[in-house]
Amino acid sequence: MIRWNTLLGFFYLVLCVGKIIRAEAITESITRYYEFNVTQHSINPDCSEHTSPVFLINGQMPGPTITANQGDIIHVLIRNKLSEVDTHHHDVAIHFHGIRQYGSNHADGVPFLTQLPIRPGQEFVQEFRVINQAGTFFYHAHVGLQEETVFGPLIVYESQAANPEILSTESSTNSTEFLPLTAGPFSYHDEHVAILSEWWHRPPIEFENFLMGSKFKFLPEADSVLINGRTMHDTRHATLAKCGGYDVMTVLPNKTYRFRVIGATTFRTLGFAIARHNLTIIEVDGELVKPYTVNQLEVAPGQRFSVLVHTDQVLDDYSIRVVRRWSDDVGRPTNGIAVLQYQQPISRLNHPSLGVGSRGVLRFKRPAMIQPPSIHPVFEKAELEAPYWIWQELEPLYGVDPTVRKPASRTIKLRSVDRHLPDGTTRWQVNGVAYTEEMGSKQQPILYNVLNKTRQLPGRYNTAHTNGYDPNLRTYPLKHFEIVDIVIQTTHMPGEPCRSHPWHTHGHSHWEIANGKGEYTEERDGKIRNINTPILKDITMIYPNVDPDLFTKDGEKVTSPVGCGWSKIRIVADNPGIWAVHCHNTPHMLMGMMVALEEAPELISRP
Ligand code: C2O
Ligand code: CU
Repeated sequence: MIRWNTLLGFFYLVLCVGKIIRAEAITESITRYYEFNVTQHSINPDCSEHTSPVFLINGQMPGPTITANQGDIIHVLIRNKLSEVDTHHHDVAIHFHGIRQYGSNHADGVPFLTQLPIRPGQEFVQEFRVINQAGTFFYHAHVGLQEETVFGPLIVYESQAANPEILSTESSTNSTEFLPLTAGPFSYHDEHVAILSEWWHRPPIEFENFLMGSKFKFLPEADSVLINGRTMHDTRHATLAKCGGYDVMTVLPNKTYRFRVIGATTFRTLGFAIARHNLTIIEVDGELVKPYTVNQLEVAPGQRFSVLVHTDQVLDDYSIRVVRRWSDDVGRPTNGIAVLQYQQPISRLNHPSLGVGSRGVLRFKRPAMIQPPSIHPVFEKAELEAPYWIWQELEPLYGVDPTVRKPASRTIKLRSVDRHLPDGTTRWQVNGVAYTEEMGSKQQPILYNVLNKTRQLPGRYNTAHTNGYDPNLRTYPLKHFEIVDIVIQTTHMPGEPCRSHPWHTHGHSHWEIANGKGEYTEERDGKIRNINTPILKDITMIYPNVDPDLFTKDGEKVTSPVGCGWSKIRIVADNPGIWAVHCHNTPHMLMGMMVALEEAPELISRP
């Protein structure tokens, strides 16, 4: 009898423990299903006189937010519902930016490398597990300039403790207290996403034809910079009935928030600041870093940051603003504005306008504003803009990876030069070759041919005289597990402006281990390691860093392009696949500033 009771008690205990575990919802990996329908719409996101026909995912911009916990599987069904046209302009493909796609090269979304573009009327599934990485990512179209409007956030929570979604229904029934979210050693009350993009008063297809054609001279500036898909182009005649207004992010006083800032811009690098609030950087490109406090961020196309913001100011509206950086001849101010709005902490019970957000946190329904708040951030002067920003100061949270101190297997130098071709077009050549989609084959993506063994395997890896390029395969083959240093060299004509270039690595994060001015030479600069604590990231900005000594040679003016800045990045070839590496200034990429790595093709796994 006693034993029977004890046994019951034991079962009861097990049940309770089971319940607690479920409430805290530990680490079961699940599959998250998403459906993306791509359709055409005419939109006017900056409340101007102008509307353009553009492509959207599920009719919205930004597209739906994808969320997952580390270890989950993300399954996205993409349907191309655009009408059939006889050019490639209505083909689509979606890339999940910053996701390394370990063992799932086929889900990387690069047309002609990993898949064929999705034709009108077709559908395509991309499924992948998020392995060993968490933080702030995004997805965007990888065809033409479609990514101007086809993009959205992708958030991977470090663990269930960082996931604001899970307990909301449960908490809504009990208290108004919140459970803080935690990621690594950081805890915060709630989070917001600020995704930055650009908007041209000109349809993307027309813009692309202009870029690639013979009338191209220089890249026209975007008419608006959008935060979460909105801004106001002209507030003079605006009414709330006509306009979405500025995006308003509400906060409670005396709390800590995680802001996820995503550079989904096509072209410009932006400064980002919130009036009267410091930003403590804790994450870059999906890796936690030691907290580092700034008053503004520099956000290049493709880059992401998480910053902690303490709401220690008085109850008011504060503007969130962006300016252009590295913009040479154009002014810095933009119309990119959003609002940080303090809310009075009050009980939900007597305020029906309150909704319950993450983990029981009270969230007000989003108000709309068509006039900017009067308190603006102060940005540093353009003259103080210096190459390398604060990159040197950042440190990985858990210490520097010993791989960055090892010798590299080899160094590949990618030197980009912009060329005006005889047919009047302009192209960016990398080591003499401007990337085009025909690098693959128009019939099958390279990956497909590799898996079907109809593609020749790379014969020789040490292609020193060609800088690692295999002219037959038209890719840069890598051996499994080699440590490869890639020097990204930018150039200009002496006396002409030198441009900044944010380079992105698919399938890998990389460490930037050195950088310098002018032209990199192996003999002189090969040993330089001037970055003390390299962090892992998937975008490295190659800053303009001109060397005037290169402008003349033997007393003569130099009339060919010379180096004007370089960075050396390191990757470990631990992820067999066909991976794009390119400048994330999309016009530059379309004009050829891209290469493909062919990494241990014999080991690529089948979907
Ligand atoms: Cu976000 Cu190939 O890029
Ligand atoms: Cu570029």
